[in-house]
Amino acid sequence: MLVFNKKELLREEIEALKTPKSSVGFVPTMGALHKGHLSLLEKSVAENSITVISIFVNPTQFNNAEDLKKYPKTLEADLEKIKTVSEKILVYAPTVDDIYEGNTVSEHFSFDGLEHEMEGKFRPGHFDGVGTVVKKLFEIVQPNHAYFGEKDFQQLQIVKKLVQKQNLPVNIVACPIYREANGLAMSSRNQRLSEEEKNKAGIIYKTLMQAKKMFGTKSAQEVSKWVTNQLKKQNTFELEYFEIASEDNLKTCKRKSKNKNYRAFIAVFVNKIRLIDTISLK
Ligand code: PAJ
Repeated sequence: MLVFNKKELLREEIEALKTPKSSVGFVPTMGALHKGHLSLLEKSVAENSITVISIFVNPTQFNNAEDLKKYPKTLEADLEKIKTVSEKILVYAPTVDDIYEGNTVSEHFSFDGLEHEMEGKFRPGHFDGVGTVVKKLFEIVQPNHAYFGEKDFQQLQIVKKLVQKQNLPVNIVACPIYREANGLAMSSRNQRLSEEEKNKAGIIYKTLMQAKKMFGTKSAQEVSKWVTNQLKKQNTFELEYFEIASEDNLKTCKRKSKNKNYRAFIAVFVNKIRLIDTISLK
């Protein structure tokens, strides 16, 4: 398996492998890979002749220095996991300088308001950082298809908007959330949870499922109130937000409309570790 830390060398390899019929699939990640990441990789390998994965903990998308410092870095283990999917996958694991060339700042984007909702309210600058690195990575890899998880649904919608507004020639493929047996959405941050915390965190998904059921007969406000109370009862969790929002513009549902698809979004802290999850309410 080939691992590159210089963009020029990765580009050369992609150009050498390309044929008129080939397509390039790309899975951008920050490493500390789990089965959720691998499910994106498997889809890319099944749908493309060339697959590239990037492993890069992007400093500009962290609004919290402590979170950046504590973000797990497990390159050797990640490479072993990638091999189990396919030895032919190209790995791009650059340094900060290879991506930012000495200028570690974000470009400022307008994503037509998507960036001001939920994660945008609680993580200032986060989506400028994501937009900046994704745009740079797309320029380097030049993929035909790029795979993103619905786990970060707001990020997925923002990347689609980036591609649309900047006219980038890449198709964004949405991939379903991969979960632990107890329903906890897989996340690199789960590595920081104790076994007991992981078990308890199964409640997040159970609460979302219950919210989905309730949304059939109750208003978004009633469901939100119920979820807030439910999590307050558990002293393991500190709720940051729960929102029922429209999938297209991510605006809070005030009055249900038959023409819209809604989604529930949640962010909770478990012992200072921030977890997010989402579920379609359709
Ligand atoms: P990271 O958190 O490593 O996630 C990489 C990709 O894996 C994202 O598209 C994310 O939505 C997806 N993913 C994470 N957990 C998943 C799960 N349980 N099931 C399915 N997919 C899952 O998201 C980022 O990195 C970064 O913001 C990045 C896009 C790489 C830019 O730096």
